[in-house]
Amino acid sequence: QDEQAQERIVAARERLGDRAVLLCHHYQRADVYRHADLTGDSLKLAKLASQTDAEYIVFCGVHFMAEVADILSRPEQVAILPDLAAGCSMADMANLAKVERCWRELGEVLDDPDASITPVTYINSAADLKAFCGEHGGIVCTSTNAPKILDWAFAQREKVLFFPDQHLGRWTGYKKDIPLEQMVVWDPDQEYGGLTPDEIRNAKILLWKGHCSVHQMFQESHIRRWRMQHPDGFVISHPESNLEVCLNSDHVGSTEFIINTIKGAPPNTQWLVGTELNLVSRLAEEVKPEGKTVQFMAPTVCMCSTMQRIDPQHLAWALENLADGNVVNRISVPVHEAELARLALERMLAV
Ligand code: 13P
Ligand code: SF4
Repeated sequence: QDEQAQERIVAARERLGDRAVLLCHHYQRADVYRHADLTGDSLKLAKLASQTDAEYIVFCGVHFMAEVADILSRPEQVAILPDLAAGCSMADMANLAKVERCWRELGEVLDDPDASITPVTYINSAADLKAFCGEHGGIVCTSTNAPKILDWAFAQREKVLFFPDQHLGRWTGYKKDIPLEQMVVWDPDQEYGGLTPDEIRNAKILLWKGHCSVHQMFQESHIRRWRMQHPDGFVISHPESNLEVCLNSDHVGSTEFIINTIKGAPPNTQWLVGTELNLVSRLAEEVKPEGKTVQFMAPTVCMCSTMQRIDPQHLAWALENLADGNVVNRISVPVHEAELARLALERMLAV
């Protein structure tokens, strides 16, 4: 059945020619990744989506990525997500109603949040939250550009509201020498985020209480144990990991950064990697001939279950429909929302 799906993908792509481009995130499973025209982390894929001339942008990734492709591409281009259930559990930890309530409650303590707080949304968020940032003088960031974006945000206003990933926000603030006590967690399920007025007034960064279910598995104890057995080895992690993991890693960065760093490293080096398993397994195979070993950080198997939903069957089905002239699984952000979200994304791309 799998072999059949592979053949169907190849045949449908031949029929489509250059009318369709396949953009693939690094967490995609091997049997999908092999069909990619272009691969990347979220920032690279966003830029590629804004540059392609293809009629169909078939996004092998998760929902927010396909939304970004739709927002940054031209109106006549069509973004497709082969399985609409491919969401991101972290992105779902913030929604517009909760962020608007947070803004209102902050306004009760700080008078005018539009004058004192820059909202920064991680690209792992729904389009309406990017639109919120566009409307309120805020910006989008990715795991690659978060430090520069934080500088930009503080150049506008004295405080930052960072959502939905507390870990990326905390690590980035830490690298910018913001004291840990001035980075407080905003719990959206409590009134005033569970904070006192003084805690809100003294904060530099309000960190939304969100996290990635995959990266939360990585613990500092995994690194400690591995280093005892590999004293000359290197540890590299994605910044969605917690602060202790980031502090104990030799390198921290995006999926693209992780791949480039290990590929560019000297032969016969040993690596422990704190990011999703599909990426780590593929990388381990690719660098094996150079004598490099690449090991996954957690003792348990943890893939991103939503990235995994894009399988050869869904991809074959979507491509065949496109080749037959049926647009299926189109991701289309409403015009007004897309305009405001584009503002926040373009601010990011300009920084
Ligand atoms: P990157 O932008 O680093 O690829 O990260 C996206 C993501 O979802 C990581 O979990
Ligand atoms: Fe979202 Fe985490 Fe999956 Fe990345 S790995 S897409 S943050 S759930």
